[in-house]
Amino acid sequence: MLVYLNGDYLPLEEARIPVLDRGFLFGDGVYEVIPAYGGRPFRLREHLQRLENSLRAIRMEPPLTQEQWAAVFRRLVEEHGGVDQQIYLQVTRGAYHKRLHAIPAKTRPTLFAMSNPLPPRDPELVARGLSVVVREDIRWQRCDIKAITLLANILAQQEARDAGADEALLVRDGEVTEGTASNFFMVKEGRILTPPKSNHLLPGITRDLVLELAREAGLPSAEMVVTPSDLATAEEIWITSSTKEVMPVTRLDGQAVGDGRPGPMWRRMDALYQACKARLRRQAGDECRG
Ligand code: PDD
Repeated sequence: MLVYLNGDYLPLEEARIPVLDRGFLFGDGVYEVIPAYGGRPFRLREHLQRLENSLRAIRMEPPLTQEQWAAVFRRLVEEHGGVDQQIYLQVTRGAYHKRLHAIPAKTRPTLFAMSNPLPPRDPELVARGLSVVVREDIRWQRCDIKAITLLANILAQQEARDAGADEALLVRDGEVTEGTASNFFMVKEGRILTPPKSNHLLPGITRDLVLELAREAGLPSAEMVVTPSDLATAEEIWITSSTKEVMPVTRLDGQAVGDGRPGPMWRRMDALYQACKARLRRQAGDECRG
């Protein structure tokens, strides 16, 4: 498999970075995960804008233009033919000659990207719905930055797995923020609700698209604070991400959500989302542009 590293395309096994890379030493970098359907990156502009926001937030300049990134992705995606894919890209602050917490005056960033097939969602899992547990959000105060530093997410995800669940919903100061690698939605009294954007959650590209699709379809939605006690009265719970799309959650801390099956509002939203992907594959309309 060919990957992109600092301007070169080379086999994955040959891609090497120095051990003094600050991504390796400090987790000093940011990343993106972008799905590609029918060879076309989904919501590319939004992902690249978020990458630029993440970079600026950690005091780095965008190392490539959006057009340059798009060219890199075209080359990587071509490798796998027309199958659905997930593009991963990571930018770190690069290597400095010694370990230093402060930002060195000048380093050359390390740019890495690869594309892997994105298998279709397991239809059985979609029909059954996911199981989630609630955990304390022990992450830092800048969860809006898509930082590669993911230890707290990893630990919470593992706690979910240890409890036999698929994902953990995180709670900070009495508010549900998001999942360990997903955003969070619930349906209450027929309204789609999700926490407002803040420094406590990632501004998910899928999250934004779900809100956009809800508005276009005339489905009532609102961005509002959700507390753990609201969860108990949810008619439906969903999680969203670029790789999971919109997934129904049917068990919360071992209890059924609603009637324990994916709900009618999820079915509508999932249909809208799938239609959006299909339009991109056919390159029809620009609503779900690449
Ligand atoms: N994660 N919140 C967190 C903490 C995430 O890591 C992600 C995605 C999301 C959803 O964002 P989006 O809809 O833009 O994918 C929310 C990616 C997929 C990952 O780490 O693999």
